[in-house]
Amino acid sequence: MPMTIIIGAQWGDEGKGHITDRLAQDAAIVARYSGGDNAGHTVTIGREVFKLHLIPSGIIHPGVVCLVGNGAVVNPAVMLREMDALAARGVSVAPARLKLSDGAHLITPAHIAMDKAHEKQRGGAAIGTTLRGIGPVYTDKARRIGLRAALLADEEALAEAVQAHVAAKNEVLVKVYGEEPLDAHAVAAEYVGYARRLAPHLVDGPLLLDEALQQGQMVLAEGAQGTLLDIDHGTYPFVTSSSPTAGGAITGLGVGPRLVDRVIGVAKAFTSRVGGGPFPTELSDDAAVRLRGTGENPWDEYGTTTGRPRRVGWLDLPMLRHARRVNSLSEWVLTKLDILSGLPEIPVCVGYELDGRRVDSFPTDLPTLARCRPLYERLPGWAEDIMGARRPDELPDNARRYVDFVAKESGAPVGYVSVGPGREQFIVME
Ligand code: GDP
Ligand code: IMO
Ligand code: MG
Repeated sequence: MPMTIIIGAQWGDEGKGHITDRLAQDAAIVARYSGGDNAGHTVTIGREVFKLHLIPSGIIHPGVVCLVGNGAVVNPAVMLREMDALAARGVSVAPARLKLSDGAHLITPAHIAMDKAHEKQRGGAAIGTTLRGIGPVYTDKARRIGLRAALLADEEALAEAVQAHVAAKNEVLVKVYGEEPLDAHAVAAEYVGYARRLAPHLVDGPLLLDEALQQGQMVLAEGAQGTLLDIDHGTYPFVTSSSPTAGGAITGLGVGPRLVDRVIGVAKAFTSRVGGGPFPTELSDDAAVRLRGTGENPWDEYGTTTGRPRRVGWLDLPMLRHARRVNSLSEWVLTKLDILSGLPEIPVCVGYELDGRRVDSFPTDLPTLARCRPLYERLPGWAEDIMGARRPDELPDNARRYVDFVAKESGAPVGYVSVGPGREQFIVME
């Protein structure tokens, strides 16, 4: 069985963790291919809520092997903390189940200090990063001075490399940014401690995946972030420093495109964004509170990683068309449709007015996007609570109409609809 890729279609937090957990029931391996603990993926099973940042969302299924792939970036302290939290809840994270590819790059406290210094320097133009060191670790990777996870197998080489890395970053932190230096010796010693625990998890990721695929097993590639946060296809510079799109899954895992059969785009039934940058359909005041919630439900729109209130707005179809195109999506999962219940009518952005013309595509060039005015079509709403719906015929007619409209206007079918955070709150559309 080939590889299925799960992609966030918007600015992250579309419900990828929930959908990955749900689809992992048929998978042998679930693999994270990009990003690091800037991600926050929620899996809800009954009363149990798991918030995962680095460990793939397949981990709750006892029979699934989880891999953190080459394209991901790993803060070992966070990975170990997450492993301990899962183990304390009875979820096995033994090396047989949880694997770290030796080509993944390691995040250090120096990367985090640099991330903070960069954001401080940007002042009012800050990107609003998660301050997890993501930009700096990918910068080092591209400069070919990064620390790869393979170092965890050689304590002496690791200590030497970490010490030299921190010393080099200290130069910049102190001389360019006027920040305090880090203790290079202490960080190196800390990383040797992490290595002792993580080394047994190291594997050659592409080899592991190839063996599974050759045996006809299903591999699920779990995207982090979202299409509009992609460094090439997002709202640059208000993006992350990796490739959350389908191409990123291929390079990040080392599996060629001929072995991919499905690319599933996860789209929220409205739009959310955390951090800075443009957001054409953004709402403010009471309308925003209606979509965001006030924080009393676990699914309300507050960041899983940072706790920040998410910016929210109506569904943006030009954005979904963009996501369909740059990922060659085969189908959609539409999540959080339940949140729209009770609205008398639901505005949906169907295109933009740009310099007096109508455009149907999403311009990722910021000055162009700033001149775009969303054009809305108002779809009729539904009063019923749909969180208990399990089959397409249990959805009210207008909810079906909303789903069909998204499919028609975006150019890809809606394969699944999610109506709540729980594993069972999921409808397979016919
Ligand atoms: P991710 O980063 O894409 O994995 O998404 P997050 O976990 O950061 O945010 C999605 C939030 O919505 C989480 O609290 C999920 O439990 C929740 N969620 C996912 N799907 C649904 C849904 O269909 N309905 C509702 N009400 N909540 C959902
Ligand atoms: P999941 O996987 C939402 C955003 C940050 C910021 C920008 C750059 O949970 O969907 P970074 O720390 O990556 O350098 O921040 O990207 N961002 C996310 N927003 N969900 C995420 O992950 C995100 N990961 C990064 O808020 O705007
Ligand atoms: Mg999230």
